[in-house]
Amino acid sequence: MRARSFLLATLLLSCGAEEAPTPPPTPPTSDGFSWNLPQGFPAPRVPSDNPMNRAKVELGRHLFYDKRLSGNGTFSCGSCHEQARAFTDGRGLAVGSTGQEHPRGSMSLANVGYAATLTWANPLMTTLEKQALVPMFGEDPVELGLAGQEEALFARLKAEPRYQELFPRAFPEKGAEPFDLDAVVKALGAFQRTLISGRSPYDRHLAGEKGALSEAAVRGKELFFSERLECFHCHGGFSLADSVTHEGKAIDEITFHNTGLYNLDGKGAYPAPNRGVLEVSNQAGDMGRFKAPTLRNIAVTAPYMHDGSVATLPEAIDHYAAGGRTIPSGPLAGDGSKNPYKSEFVTGFLLSEQEKLDLLAFLESLTDTAFLTNPEHADPWPAP
Ligand code: HEC
Ligand code: HEC
Repeated sequence: MRARSFLLATLLLSCGAEEAPTPPPTPPTSDGFSWNLPQGFPAPRVPSDNPMNRAKVELGRHLFYDKRLSGNGTFSCGSCHEQARAFTDGRGLAVGSTGQEHPRGSMSLANVGYAATLTWANPLMTTLEKQALVPMFGEDPVELGLAGQEEALFARLKAEPRYQELFPRAFPEKGAEPFDLDAVVKALGAFQRTLISGRSPYDRHLAGEKGALSEAAVRGKELFFSERLECFHCHGGFSLADSVTHEGKAIDEITFHNTGLYNLDGKGAYPAPNRGVLEVSNQAGDMGRFKAPTLRNIAVTAPYMHDGSVATLPEAIDHYAAGGRTIPSGPLAGDGSKNPYKSEFVTGFLLSEQEKLDLLAFLESLTDTAFLTNPEHADPWPAP
């Protein structure tokens, strides 16, 4: 894995405001696909073997919401990623199609096409196409439960009249046999790259619209981007996330942070199997390191953190204000603020009641209603 000094260097590199890239004009594809990017958003990076087209995005949307994509016909991606909740599920820990609990909570898919790494703590998971295989075929935990069912899956998909049209239109290069796993994951990837959220009141404020934000939210914005609170170091740039990639970006800074949520043994331990990047790298220094997710639409994605252990936004603010969370008793007891692996940007601060309300108002101004209700992101299947 990466040496600590390298992580630190990239951390420092990623400090400060992300350069505000002007979106290059994106000419529509031959079938009319264009990004329709919000102001200040660059074009997402698209794998060269999976170019965007409208038919593929439409196929991906159908697959995303299709319960035939689960072993027992009860679940789709959309079961754990609901549009109205910015593609989360309202649970602390996700629950799969067979009832098995996932060790972590489902994540927002807002601007997921810009994420340099995917899932809570896996530096090796870098493409949407590869990630989709995990919920489909994973056996521990079972999410969609398709392991060993590939043939049955394609028989089900082929029998659907809409797919008889959508698969060949999306993948004309595949000829007479477009029904395969490659097509499924590519279409899901193309659909997810269109899940772009950048039209919240905060964005309208950035664009100069007077009154887009309340006075409280404007003050909260100043706090969020201040050296006193440090939030922007890890939730910065147009996506208000860390480790962002996009078309034309030379180097992806991939960073993970320990924010002092736990300290089980006084030596920094997080509870297994949620010890962050350490689960993948086996490096002690990666204990408790997680991805800093986007804060866009954060008011609709409670509960928070990788394990849903923070119920509300005021509670999340208290955690940072204390410089880490203290759990007084029980099996998870410990003083997270003394976690030796904690980021140097989580040191704690004092907030007045008014300042806390201001910061909350700012976080609430990141809700992009147009994104949460966009019919192009919605379930295309008729209600059963
Ligand atoms: C059982 C609920 C569940 C289902 C079904 C599910 N997901 Fe997820 N999703 C999760 C959880 C939990 C995570 C976090 C996983 C982790 O950190 O290990 C996640 C993470 C993701 C991420 C990473 C997001 C980010 O910001 O890093 C993507 C992308 C994703 N899911 C897409 C999908 C797709 C596509 C499908 C359908 C093929 C799907 N999911 C089905 C629960 C689910
Ligand atoms: C050192 C980097 C860092 C700083 C500074 C930081 N965060 Fe975070 N933030 C993270 C990481 C990493 C997570 C995920 C932690 C986890 O699940 O263990 C997170 C999670 C969150 C979440 C929950 C997100 C979700 O989808 O569940 C909120 C809300 C949040 N941060 C708000 C803030 C605010 C407000 C500030 C400033 C007071 C701030 N953060 C400062 C790195 C940081």
